[in-house]
Amino acid sequence: MEFPLLYHAFFLLGICFLVLLVSCNPVIKVNGEFSSSPFPRSFLFGTASSSYQYEGAFLTDGKGLNNWDNFTHKPGNIMDGSNGDVAVDHYHRYLQDLDLMDYLGVNSYRFSISWARVLPKGRFGDVNWAGIDHYNKLINALLLKGIQPFVTLTHYDIPQELADRYGPWLSREVQEDFEYYADICFKYFGDRVKYWATFNEPNVVVIRGYQSGIYPPSRCSSLFGNCTNGDSEKEPFIAAHNIILSHAAAVKIYRTKYQKEQEGNIGIVMNTLWLEPMSNSLGDKLAAERAQAFYLNWFLDPIIFGKYPKEMYEILGSSLPSLSKYDLEKLKNGLDFIGINYYSSFYVKDCIFSVCEPGPGNSKTEGSILRTAKRNGVLIGEPTDVDWLFVYPQGMSEIVTYIKERYNNIPMYITENGFGERDNPHTSIEDLLNDTRRVRYMSNHLDSLAIAVRNGADVRGYFAWSLLDNFEWNDGYTIRFGLHHVDYATLKRTKRLSANWYKQYIAKHMAGKRSSASA
Ligand code: BGC
Repeated sequence: MEFPLLYHAFFLLGICFLVLLVSCNPVIKVNGEFSSSPFPRSFLFGTASSSYQYEGAFLTDGKGLNNWDNFTHKPGNIMDGSNGDVAVDHYHRYLQDLDLMDYLGVNSYRFSISWARVLPKGRFGDVNWAGIDHYNKLINALLLKGIQPFVTLTHYDIPQELADRYGPWLSREVQEDFEYYADICFKYFGDRVKYWATFNEPNVVVIRGYQSGIYPPSRCSSLFGNCTNGDSEKEPFIAAHNIILSHAAAVKIYRTKYQKEQEGNIGIVMNTLWLEPMSNSLGDKLAAERAQAFYLNWFLDPIIFGKYPKEMYEILGSSLPSLSKYDLEKLKNGLDFIGINYYSSFYVKDCIFSVCEPGPGNSKTEGSILRTAKRNGVLIGEPTDVDWLFVYPQGMSEIVTYIKERYNNIPMYITENGFGERDNPHTSIEDLLNDTRRVRYMSNHLDSLAIAVRNGADVRGYFAWSLLDNFEWNDGYTIRFGLHHVDYATLKRTKRLSANWYKQYIAKHMAGKRSSASA
C-alpha cells in the first residue's frame, strides 16, 4: 500500500519540477531549432561599416578617386567641411579594430569594398592588385578569429571615372561595369566570403542623389532641391532601373560562375522605415502601403516578382521604365536574402483624397503621401540628435513582419541598426562613453526583433551600426554612431558602455557558437 503512495508523490514532485524549469528558462523552437534564445543557433551577430566612412587612405596604394572623394572635396557639401580622406584610418588600423570585434565576441563583420580601390578606373583600367591584397588580408584576418565576412560590393561609392562617363547610374552601360566589378570580387574573395550584398540602400542612393540632390551626383529639379542640373521626377526612376538591373547582372554571374562551388549567398541591403498610417481611415492605410511601394518595394518587387509595385504603375504609368524580356530573364535570378537597415519610423497621411501641406513625400513621384514624425502634436518616438531618427522599437518587428509577409519569408538580416548622438566638444569624456540611450535603443530594438522571430520571421543576423564613430555623410564627423568613441585628433578608439553591453548580450544569446575557420 505504501509503495504506490510514494510513487505518486515522486511523480507529482517531478511534474512540479518540470513546470518550474520551463517557466524559469523558456525553451523555444525557432526556425526548427530548440534554444533558450529567440535567435537560431547559426544567427550572425556583428557590427557594420562601409569603406568610405571608415577606410581613409583615399589615395594610398593605387586607389582611384570615387564619387564621394569628389563630392566631399567641393566646399559646402559637408556640414563641418570634412571628408573621408583619413576617416577612422581603418585601412591601416583594421587589425586593431579586429581586436575590438574579438572582444565583443561577434561572429560576423559587415564591411564594404571600395570599388575604386579594386578598379581605380572601373573596367577602363587595370585591377589594382594592392587593393585586392588589402581585402584578402582583411578577410583572412577575420576568418582566423572566427568572424565571417559579410561583404557589400558598393556602399554609395563608385569610381569617379564611371560617375563622369555615366552620371553614374543614368546610363544602361553601368550595368556592365557593375557586373565586371562583381565578377572580380567573387573571383578573388568568393572562396572565403559566404555573404554578398550587391548594393547598400539603393533607395537612398537614388532619392538623395537624383531627387533631393544632397548626395552625389547632386542632381535635382528646383522644386526638390538646389542643384544645377537634373530632373527629380524622371531620373530617380532611371537610376533605380539601372541599379536593379546591375544587381541582377551581378547575381547572374554569381549563380552561373561561382555559387555552386563557393556555396555563398547573395542579396541586397535596403534602407527601411516603418510607416504607420496617420489614422484608421482607408485613405491613410492605402497611403502607408503606397509609401512602402515608393520606398522599399520599388526595388524589391522587380527583383523578387519581376515587376514594379502596382501603386507605382498606377501613378507613374509609362514614365516608369519598362522591363524588357531580356531584363526579366536577368531578374529571374532574384536574391537569397534581404538586408534590412532599420533605424526609425514615421506616420503617413494620404494626399490623394485629402489636402496636405507641402512636405516629404507629397509629390506624384513620391506617391502623394505626407511623411511626418508627429500625430496630433505627439512624436512617434523619442527624438534624437539626428533629425530623421525617432526611437520606435516596435517598428523593427513591424517592418520585419511586413517584409516576411510580402516576400514569403525570404531569409532576412538586420544589416544595420543604431543610435546617433551629436558631437559636443563640451561633454566630458565620462559622459561621452556612458551612452545609456544607445544601450536602451539597441536592447529595445533587439527585443522587438525577437518578437518577429518568435512569430516565425526567418531573420538570420543582426549588425549594429557601428563598431566605431565614423564619417557620417553630409553630417561629416558631427554625429557619432559608434560602440567605440573615436578621438579624431589621435584616432584613438575607446569602448563605450554600449560595447560592453553588446558583448554581454552576444555572450548570452550566442552560446559559444563562434568557430575559428582557417583562412
Ligand atoms: C547608412 C550608413 C549611415 C547610417 C546612419 C545608413 O542608412 O547605410 O552609411 O551611416 O545609415 O546614418
